[in-house]
Amino acid sequence: MVLPMNAIPSPQGPHVACIMDGNGRWAKRRGLPRTAGHTAGEENLAAVVRIASARGVGHLTVFGFSTENWVRPKAEVRHILSLHKRLFGRIEELNANNVRINWIGRPFDEPGARTPSFVQRAIRQAIADTATNTGMVLTVAFDYGSRTELLRAAQQCASNSSSDEPISTAAVQSRLYSSEMPDVDLIIRTSGESRISNFMLWQIATAKVYFTERSWPDLDAVEFDAALALLHT
Ligand code: FPP
Repeated sequence: MVLPMNAIPSPQGPHVACIMDGNGRWAKRRGLPRTAGHTAGEENLAAVVRIASARGVGHLTVFGFSTENWVRPKAEVRHILSLHKRLFGRIEELNANNVRINWIGRPFDEPGARTPSFVQRAIRQAIADTATNTGMVLTVAFDYGSRTELLRAAQQCASNSSSDEPISTAAVQSRLYSSEMPDVDLIIRTSGESRISNFMLWQIATAKVYFTERSWPDLDAVEFDAALALLHT
């Protein structure tokens, strides 16, 4: 039987969020096309999922594709979308690691949403195929932008203002794409950029922040452990 996402309790363990930056530069340094960097990024994401899950991370949330990324060259966008399909198709591996798939982003039927139907199908299928797993939740942010998410939550609160519900922290939280997820404990950004780039602005309010010079395809277990160690400082 396939259980709905919220029927399984949220796993214990910290919530780690990753801004997977530097795929393009990783490829350039090797004389490869940018797409090769994204391919290596997807492969490393699969490795980081295994590492995080083995370390007892409860939630791993990754910035897969932002609302701003649509302006990239068409061929690059197509390639990144195909990699999402590849990631969501890693069902055997995800199930072997007891990992449950989740997604946050602009709802498919809302104005401005651009997720193509093949990615929608891949997301829905992966959620269904991993729904009974009780370990780490891997959330992919796709067509995601934090300001759009917060604006939508504020608009929903305002349009509800005739009811008795006050506009409170809890009211906003309950209208976020990530309403059922805990706050982020640690955010990691690769590739030497020290910016947050419109990622989970509400959810990282109290998070530790780990910036590294390494590109995303090179983020390994040693570096991931160094980031996790921040949680104990
Ligand atoms: C940043 O690298 C990365 C992205 C815009 C897309 C993230 C996509 C992946 C890591 C591929 C796999 C992920 C999933 C969820 C399937 P960049 O192109 O901005 O690198 P640059 O700053 O060096 O140019």
